[in-house]
Formats: sequence, C-alpha cells, structure tokens
Amino acid sequence: MTCCHPRPPAADPHPLDPLTAEEIDTARRVLQQQGHVGESTRFPLVLLDEPDRHTATAHRDGDPVARRLRITLLDSRTGAAAEALVDVTAGLLLSHRELDPAVEGQPPVAFEEYEVVESVVKADPGWRKAMAERGITDTELAICAPLCAGSANGDGNHGRRLLRSLTWLRCEATDSPWAHPVGGLYADVDVIERRVVRLVDTGAVPVPAECGRYEAEFNGPPRTDLRPLEIRQPQGPSFEIRGHQLSWQDWRFRIDFNAREGLVLHQIILRGRSVLHRAALAEMAVAYGEAEESRNWVAFLDAGEYSLGRNANSLKLGCDCLGEIRYLDAVLADDDGAAYTLSNAICVHEEDVGLLWKHTDIFNNDTAESRRSRRLVVSYIATVGNYDYGFYWYFHQDGTIAFEAKSTGIVQTSAIRPGAGSPHGTEVAPGLLAPYHQHLFCVRLDAAVDGTRNTVEEVDVVPVPSGPDNPNGNAFTVRRTAITDSARGGRTADTTVGRRWRITNTGVRNRMGEPVAYTLVPQPGPVLLAQPGSAARRRMAYGTKHLWVTRYRPERRYPAGDYPNQHPGGAGLPEWTAAGESLENTELTLWHTFGPTHLPRLEEWPVMPVDVSGFMLKPTGFFDRNPALDLPR
Ligand code: NI
Repeated sequence: MTCCHPRPPAADPHPLDPLTAEEIDTARRVLQQQGHVGESTRFPLVLLDEPDRHTATAHRDGDPVARRLRITLLDSRTGAAAEALVDVTAGLLLSHRELDPAVEGQPPVAFEEYEVVESVVKADPGWRKAMAERGITDTELAICAPLCAGSANGDGNHGRRLLRSLTWLRCEATDSPWAHPVGGLYADVDVIERRVVRLVDTGAVPVPAECGRYEAEFNGPPRTDLRPLEIRQPQGPSFEIRGHQLSWQDWRFRIDFNAREGLVLHQIILRGRSVLHRAALAEMAVAYGEAEESRNWVAFLDAGEYSLGRNANSLKLGCDCLGEIRYLDAVLADDDGAAYTLSNAICVHEEDVGLLWKHTDIFNNDTAESRRSRRLVVSYIATVGNYDYGFYWYFHQDGTIAFEAKSTGIVQTSAIRPGAGSPHGTEVAPGLLAPYHQHLFCVRLDAAVDGTRNTVEEVDVVPVPSGPDNPNGNAFTVRRTAITDSARGGRTADTTVGRRWRITNTGVRNRMGEPVAYTLVPQPGPVLLAQPGSAARRRMAYGTKHLWVTRYRPERRYPAGDYPNQHPGGAGLPEWTAAGESLENTELTLWHTFGPTHLPRLEEWPVMPVDVSGFMLKPTGFFDRNPALDLPR
C-alpha cells in the first residue's frame, strides 16, 4: 500500500475546472471593492457559474477561459441575502441582486450558525426550565442540533432565518449523543436575532440511558482471525489524471468538486464518443415519518440546505479505500469568503470486481475463455450530522457507468417510553426509537449520447395475450414509449414490467440500423410517502417520481430549486415540467430519484453498516458487439 499525493500535472485551464483559491479570493476582493462586503457579511455558498454546455463543448486546449463565480451573500446582522455574479477573469462585478428569502428561500446554513444555535438554546430560560422539568440541570454536555426547519414560515416566522433545534445528551464529552435524545422538545432559533422565538414542549419522555458507544474500546476484544489482505499495483494504477482530466482505458472525463453537490463529473466520453455532459448528485432528501408534534416536521434537503461539498471528509488512505489510491484536494470558501483547501477530498482508484465474461466450450474439450472485470472508482464522503454518505461513481470495461450512495453513520433517534413501541419506527435500545425515514437521492444527468440530440424512451416488458400472435402462450415483447413532452416527463418505475429508460440518439445508428442508446437501469424504492399538501411534499416534490426528463437549461441546476432552505415549496422540477416543452431530439436532463425507505434494524445500532442504493447506465446498441472482447486474458 502506498500513498501518492502528487500535484496534478499542469494542464491548460478549462472552463469546467473546479474553483481555485485565487478565483475565490479575487471574487471576494471585487465584492469588497464594490461595497458589498462588511464585517457581518457571510458567504454561505460560493460556486462556479458554469458555462452552458455549448461553450464548454466548444472549448479547445489553449483557448482563453473566462470564469465567473456565483456567490450567495448573507448579512449575519440583518439577515439580508443577495446573489452576486463576479467575472474573476476580468475582475468585474456583473450583477448583484437582493434575494427575498421569504419567497425565494434562505441561503444554506453557514458553519458559524451551528454555534449560534448551541449558545442561544443553552442560554434560553424556557429551554432551561423544560430541561430542569426533565431532571436535567447540567446542560454542559447537551448537543443542541442545528436542524433545518423545513417550511417553518407558516408558524408566525415569515421571513425569519431559522434553525430548529432538537436536543441530545452525552454522558461525557466523547459520548455519542444520538443514544440520548431529549423527547418532546424543540426550539426555533432566529439565527439573526440570536434568540429562541418559539419553544415547543409536548411533555417529558424519559431520556434513554443506555450509551451507544461504537468505538473499539467499548466493544470487547477485537476478533483475531483476520489475516492481511493486500492490494498491490506494483506498476501503479492504469489511470492518468492531467489537471482535472482523467483517462482510464477507453474512458475520459473531467473531475470537479463544488461546495453544494460535492463531486461533479463533466464530459464523460467513451472511445471518443460522448455519453454524458454532466453528472452529479444534485439533491438528497431525508424525510422522517413520525406523527408526533415535536418530530413531525423533521425533513431535510442535505445538498441545498447544508451543502454536501462543504461537509465532505478529508479521506485517509487504507481506511476508507484500499489499494493504489490517488487523492484530489478540493478548494472551498469558508463563511467569510476566504479560500481553503480540503485535502484528500476525492478518492480515485481501481477495483477488481470479479468476472466480466466467461464461456466454457463443452464441444471443444471444455476450453474456457474468461476475462476479469476491473472498474474505476471516483468517490467522496460527506458527513451531515449523524449520517455519513459515501458517493461512488463506477466506470466499467463493458461501457457501464454505475452510481452508488452508501449510507452509514448513526440513525437519527427520538425518545419513547421503554417498551411502548411506535408505529413509526424501531425501538433499537430501551426507550430509543430510530424513526422510519426515506432517503431520496436525486442525480442530475445531462445526457449527451453521441451528441446533443437525444430522446428518452420508456421500455417495459409486456406479455402477449394468447391468440393468433401467441398460440402457445409463452410469448412476450417490449413496449417502447417515447417521452416526448415535459408535461409527461415525470415517470414512476415499475419492477413488475422491468421498466427502464433508454436515452437514444436517432441520428446515429448501430450496425443493425437502430438508434444508439444508453439505458438507465433503476433500482427503485418507494417514492416520497408524505401526503399531498404536506410541507414535505411541496418542498421535495421531485421525490414523487423516479425519473423526470426536462429540456436542458443552464439555470435548471437543482431539483428542489436554488434555495430550498425554508422554501415554501414548488421550486425546481414542478416549475420545469408544467410547460409542455418538446423533449424529442434535443438536449435533455434526466433527474433520477432513488434511495432506501429505511426501516432501521437492531443491527444498525449503535453504528450502521453501509446501506447501498444506486442505479446503472448501460450501453444499449451504443456498440455493435461486446466492447470488452479486447481485454487481455
Ligand atoms: Ni437511513
């Protein structure tokens, strides 16, 4: 096992490169010169304003690159929010627009607001009284979690910048708080006025007492029957990273990382032919299913509210991944708009994944021909509160692209009377409820299957009724339905018909005369279970379908809208799918929702083994035959 962490070799700047520290600092300086940065100005979101796909595609090495940053500003004293566009190449402020958070939603949470919540709640007399009534007078070790409030605007909080705080306790400073939830109590904190504006106390519930320590020293002697497993690549890995361009076997793509979505891949090309223009996890909802008043609002949009990239881990070799790893750093902006480097944010490595293909020729002395499969993995891990999420893109030698979201960490918890049970969760320790919840991941895929003119077809397998066309009753066929209009662009998966979605290009034909295609193969779970009219449903509407197809537009970035924090709902996909735009032979974006509806198990306490969900994209007549025939024996 070796650790290599070279600076990527120099390459010409590209319009889709991640932000540099110089660019972030320049943008801040330009805003300052224009009078938009004061002592109380915070920078909750600093992103590249990505060029539209035509500009990016037309770019050639050595062409001049003009870079713009989209910066969300927040005045931590007044709560005023704004969005600025800065040309950092020319050093110019292009626009500065006030946001109306009550209508457009709030900027995402700034890190310093975590501490504001902690100190404000702990100082609040009402909260202290409620804690004392529960027999808790030492609040030093309490955790007052800074939770996004959903659409709390209706509770007399119109226009306020809020975080909602539930309390957990620790027995000592290193204890896991999630074992000790304080039930029946939450506080709404106005983080601008820095005070609790509303305290809800539905009555005390005993705080679960049993500790949830998962570290080795609390869990007996480690097993001793494991021998070393080493993965060695003495000649180094088979991929090459130049600047932010990665090459591996027949694959080429660009690696990007931003504060909101974390890892982004651009311009995914296979054997010189484009497959996707852009691919990223654009949003993820975690929606809880408890009915009780102090818990029935718990629903988060982790990318738009908390910024996944800003919560990314710095990875350590030999721990999170195994083998010949290359790490890439990420450059982000802190609350004050200053650049910093998150080292080892992205992991790139190869994995052996067993058999790719094999045949034993029983008519020829049992001659066996087989090839092993290797895949390239590009990944990162974000920790959002109690949960940890690993996001993995896989590139296979047969042309398959796969994505996995691995959920791990610690389930969120609430308190119930021991043994009382709940219809909305699993009692994982005495009095400790792990509520049922849904993880609804949404990837945005800007399709580019052999060019820009794509159409999506829904493909179902259908039995043929017995009769002249099916005299023996055994026949079945497929039904292909083109999704031609955005008003019909929201689709639901159906495992009973093996439903999948084919991204075709009718302008390019394979050797059998059929349009080349890539197929999105879903692994569907239930869509959003919250009721029509509920706040969760309005704000997480994208989660009501497994697939949405829309026309590509540069401003269509996130499925729940640009600012889902406290947004009343209706932004994003619901706006883009009402118009009735044609989706035929044009530039398309696919928004695919997947993820577990999580019924926690006892085996997921006190720390949760990885739960995997994802999807695949498979070439379907994109090649004329198995593209992995040329692998060496
Ligand atoms: Ni879960």
